[in-house]
Amino acid sequence: MRAAVAVAAAAALVTAPRWLPGRVVALRAGVFAKVNGDNVITFPNAEVGPERFQEVYGHPAAGGRSRGAGLSDLFWYWLSPGPEVHQEHLEAGPRYDDVAATTLALLAGRGDDLSARAAACAGRVLDELVPGRAALVRLRDLMMPVWAEFFHELVFGEPCPPGARDLVVGHADDVVTALKCTGLRHPRRRARLTRYLAGRLDDVRVALPGSLTPRERVHYLQGTFFNTAVVQMSEAMAHLLLTIAQHPETVPRLDDDRYFQHVLDEVMRLYPLFGIAHRITTADIDLDGVPHIPAGSVLCFSYPDYHATGYADPERFDPSRWERTSARHAHHIPFGIAANRPCPAWRVAPLAMRAATREVLRRFSAHSTVSHTRSLPHRGPCLLVRHGTALPSRVRTAVGVALRVRDRWEDVGRSLAQLVLGTVMVLDARRLRLAGRYFDEQDHGDGRVAGCPVAHGKAEVAR
Ligand code: HEM
Repeated sequence: MRAAVAVAAAAALVTAPRWLPGRVVALRAGVFAKVNGDNVITFPNAEVGPERFQEVYGHPAAGGRSRGAGLSDLFWYWLSPGPEVHQEHLEAGPRYDDVAATTLALLAGRGDDLSARAAACAGRVLDELVPGRAALVRLRDLMMPVWAEFFHELVFGEPCPPGARDLVVGHADDVVTALKCTGLRHPRRRARLTRYLAGRLDDVRVALPGSLTPRERVHYLQGTFFNTAVVQMSEAMAHLLLTIAQHPETVPRLDDDRYFQHVLDEVMRLYPLFGIAHRITTADIDLDGVPHIPAGSVLCFSYPDYHATGYADPERFDPSRWERTSARHAHHIPFGIAANRPCPAWRVAPLAMRAATREVLRRFSAHSTVSHTRSLPHRGPCLLVRHGTALPSRVRTAVGVALRVRDRWEDVGRSLAQLVLGTVMVLDARRLRLAGRYFDEQDHGDGRVAGCPVAHGKAEVAR
């Protein structure tokens, strides 16, 4: 009997990489579903299929962002400091309009200038961080300093000092690490960037939102440009470069802008940065053929589910499908939908990514054997080999095997850590009730988050 138990335990341990991570992901999803409460509807679903998805998403009553959703406390916890002025979480109104206009002004510019700037930042960072003939990197980590420099230049109109780059990377990395539940928040680390930005408010290239206090302007910059922008671009680049590493047949054609766009569309279809975007209904929604949706419902729009409908063989990476399909008419919304608060970077992001990718591929070939999932918790392990370096194929194969084995075992420990850390943060966020307290104050107080010291010194974004 004892021997049988020992054999079963040993078998369970040895096969853990195969079964454990999936179970833990399901458990974690259960924890988050509990936070959401009962008034949640996820689309597409059995009653509202993908053909009505954008109609519901774009409905004028699908407009609330934070007020009234249990999940907001968690988002605000991850987004701190200043979640109440983060553009993604501001309710519609004059403050939102003011903030959104400033973001667009900062992201504006000629396409070729923005591309050249992204190429220069990528080139500088690559030459500094990967000077040798070959290197094992984590793609997300490698890309963070690139986008820290790029957005510092966009905001301040001047090169990013090394110390500032470290602050931005430290902050953005802390946010995305907490968001993925692979680590806890480090409020002090985030506060160091807040202090730097507070000292530079007068140097920003465009006028900052007049409806915000100076403190709120600092938080707006920190949340939108030095968190969301840096994190999203780094994640997106990690997905793109990892795909290219695993599909070397794409490389010879990536100089062709049209083909590059097909690869990018396919990468963003398979690995959308948003798993779910949510809205809170501000009024009832009654559409023909759609069950009644009461005001106050939390609508969750699942990007991966929507992106998997309407395509032949949707799981397959096939950039050539975009030769026959127009991204505009397909079930493809990598930057959200035009009718309801789309991403303000929908124009600049692809341009900048194309320029940065070409800088990487001009120097290196990329190789990776690791798993590729939408949440990318391993940050994209990859071998970069400088062109002209003779790396024997048996060495490359051995590195590939080592990467794959390490990835599978890391996944076991990481998924358990994610379960524990995710639960800790969910409980902490419920205790702090950042969003709930903010709206209580608005309803009963003077409209300021007087009792919100936490929001003024802590961490960041969940998707
Ligand atoms: C490839 C990179 C990026 C992707 C795929 C992406 C994707 C998205 C998506 C899907 C949304 C809409 C979600 C919803 O409907 O709630 C969104 C919103 C947003 N994104 Fe991006 N994003 C990217 C880069 C950026 C960058 C560089 C910035 C820099 C400022 C940015 C700032 C924002 C903001 C502020 C919003 C909220 C818009 C609003 O509510 O008015 N994103 N993004």
